[in-house]
Amino acid sequence: MYFKSFAHFAFLAPYLLFSPILAQQQACNNSPLLCDRSYANVTQLGAHNSAFIRDESNNFDVAGNQYFNSTEQLDAGVRLLTAQVHRSGSSNGAQEWHLCHSVCELMDAGRLSTWLSGIKRWLDNNENDVVTILLVNADGATASDLDGEFQQADIVDYSFVPADTTQPLSNWPTLREMIASNTRLVTFIASLQPSQNTVAPYLLDEFTFIFENDFENFNATDFDCNPARPGTLGTARSAAETGRLFLMNHFLYEQQLFSIEVPFEDGANVTNSPVGTGSLGDHSIQCTRVYGRPPWAVLVDFFNVGPAIDSVDALNSVQNAVGRKSVSNEVINAENPVNSEDSEGAAVSRGPSLTALVFPLALAILWIGAF
Ligand SMILES: *[C@@H]1O[C@H](CO)[C@@H](O)[C@H](O)[C@H]1NC(C)=O
Ligand SMILES: *[C@@H]1O[C@H](CO)[C@@H](O)[C@H](O)[C@H]1NC(C)=O
Ligand SMILES: *[C@@H]1O[C@H](CO)[C@@H](O)[C@H](O)[C@H]1NC(C)=O
Ligand SMILES: *[C@@H]1O[C@H](CO)[C@@H](O)[C@H](O)[C@H]1NC(C)=O
Repeated sequence: MYFKSFAHFAFLAPYLLFSPILAQQQACNNSPLLCDRSYANVTQLGAHNSAFIRDESNNFDVAGNQYFNSTEQLDAGVRLLTAQVHRSGSSNGAQEWHLCHSVCELMDAGRLSTWLSGIKRWLDNNENDVVTILLVNADGATASDLDGEFQQADIVDYSFVPADTTQPLSNWPTLREMIASNTRLVTFIASLQPSQNTVAPYLLDEFTFIFENDFENFNATDFDCNPARPGTLGTARSAAETGRLFLMNHFLYEQQLFSIEVPFEDGANVTNSPVGTGSLGDHSIQCTRVYGRPPWAVLVDFFNVGPAIDSVDALNSVQNAVGRKSVSNEVINAENPVNSEDSEGAAVSRGPSLTALVFPLALAILWIGAF
């Protein structure tokens, strides 16, 4: 009996492994459902100030906006990374372009090119993913200054370049097309006037292509969907009619001593929740109503909390995302530090794994074979 059922299974095994159900389908940004959707019509989860981390290595520096670094963010499903570029004097007096939070004395996350190299390696290792970078050009770096950093990181070849960089793009390619042409990096700079950029057409001026709601909010009741930047777009309707992508800012500051504004960690579980007043879920549904379509991106602090990805999956109608690494969805600070063991312990499998599919099938076959 047992022998017979095992033989039965062995006979069926090749069909099982190569059956269309189990054959690996291309997943784009973690789901096969997103491959044939335009880049403009996939909601990206954005990590606000992606490079500014608070963790054990800096005693949970309150200037940090995220608990996990940029490559960990990408592993977990974040597809938009924002940061600020500042001019920084290096130890030998030379000027370098660094990622700094407000000023380099407050938090200096190192050279832009070093950070870009990490993203380049991630793109090398994740061939079916499209990533967006949005850099705040705080000290007026020129196109060639920035291009130097991108060249240094050897990441330019991945860049997507629209045919016309001076106006919103009406027809963004699908994720599958961007993956096929291996132009899987979209870079926006706030700001870099197209007329001032003759050397690096892949560095796209943010406000030519994107508009945003107000980003400076202190209270969950303050979130809205109105176009705030660029400041010339008027109503929601007229902003949408320009064809720009809508970036929904959804994070809160709290005011500390001397009016210093820091990310509001205590409210993160409410702010990033899929449901409730002032939540990411509610705010994105509100903006979806206003614009008749989901935001192109939502930008959050502490992306792992909520978890924010749940609201984004809902906007994209994605269930059973594949290829993500799970991270803790908790607030992480000195009172609640996390180590790699904890985060593995907390790992939640999203969607059925191969084992979960094969195991019941194998059992079913054994069961049938036994009779
Ligand atoms: C975006 O994609 C969804 C799912 O395919 C589709 O239902 C919707 O009409 C699209 N919206 C736009 C504005 O392209
Ligand atoms: C992020 O952290 C992981 C784990 O600690 C590390 O392996 C990786 O190199 C880091 N990435 C960057 C860009 O620093
Ligand atoms: C947020 O706004 C509400 C309504 O205006 C107010 O009752 C509440 O005190 C505010 N919360 C904070 C933390 O300022
Ligand atoms: C958020 O965290 C606070 C403090 O830990 C807790 O009291 C509250 O119930 C949490 N709210 C949600 C929506 O998870």
